[in-house]
Amino acid sequence: MLSVGIDIGGTKIAGGVVDDAGTIVEQARVATPTDPDALADAVGAMALDLVSRHEVVAVGVAAAGFIDATRSIMIHAPNIDWRNVPLRAEFERRIGRPVTLENDANAAGWGEYRFGAGAGSSNMVMLTLGTGVGGAVVTDGELLLGGNGTAGELGHLRYERGGHACGCGQRGCLEQYASGRALQREAREIAAQEGLGAGLAAAQDAEGVIPGDAMAQLVLDRDPGALEAVHRVAVALGEACGQFQAVLDPDLYVIGGGVADLGEALLVPARVAYERSLPGFSGRQVARFEIATLGNDAGLIGVADLARIRG
Ligand code: BGC
Ligand code: NA
Ligand code: ZN
Repeated sequence: MLSVGIDIGGTKIAGGVVDDAGTIVEQARVATPTDPDALADAVGAMALDLVSRHEVVAVGVAAAGFIDATRSIMIHAPNIDWRNVPLRAEFERRIGRPVTLENDANAAGWGEYRFGAGAGSSNMVMLTLGTGVGGAVVTDGELLLGGNGTAGELGHLRYERGGHACGCGQRGCLEQYASGRALQREAREIAAQEGLGAGLAAAQDAEGVIPGDAMAQLVLDRDPGALEAVHRVAVALGEACGQFQAVLDPDLYVIGGGVADLGEALLVPARVAYERSLPGFSGRQVARFEIATLGNDAGLIGVADLARIRG
């Protein structure tokens, strides 16, 4: 049984025809238009194109933001200009068939749970560290949606009182300390420091941004400034997971998104910070931390699977 999954990211829309083992049979990709109508048109065109070549039983679309309990309305997207947009209807009108709408991180978490790093766990938390910080909670094998549909917004845990302003309207959210943007902010700050920042400063482009591959290389070379920037993000991630443990008690944290490309350089300090911040830590069982294995495809694979399951 095949279904279509489409994941709307900040820079690109990734789509695919996926079988019920989570294998992508055909893939599609376009740049994300900034205009909302053009974006919905691009999603519609991609879905129609994929559907035209395969026997497809369902279509799912994943997008960043707070989705209502009926899985129809995008209530609020912190990093996109969507406020109470009837996204599901917009897509269904263009595609001409029912569409399953899901939060992007929920979709990625579900994908990892079913077909990726989540193997062997039935109480798993996923965090996606990209432009924002997304979350997904799988409890006893079920994706947690909450009473109003917006459970699992783990990026908006308050990490620092009175901290940096967040797109959700609050201050000090984890998203401002553990996202790709946060890593850039820390790196920029360190780059301005004499000595420690030399490696980072040399890697900055004209806008002061350090490209992901340059950051990864600096980390591989054990550049002290880059390691310090990664350490700060890892500590925020690990400490937040210590807090999640008190509420959700997962046995596994799966870490995905662009920042997770740093791999063990991120996970090693995150695990230390996590254990240090665990309530009641003295020989209690701790959760495992794993890097996501489905990469950028987790969201489309997960939402394709959810679409098939929800029918
Ligand atoms: C949004 C989430 C989303 C995450 C990752 C956050 O800012 O609130 O809904 O999952 O970014 O895109
Ligand atoms: Na979520
Ligand atoms: Zn927030």
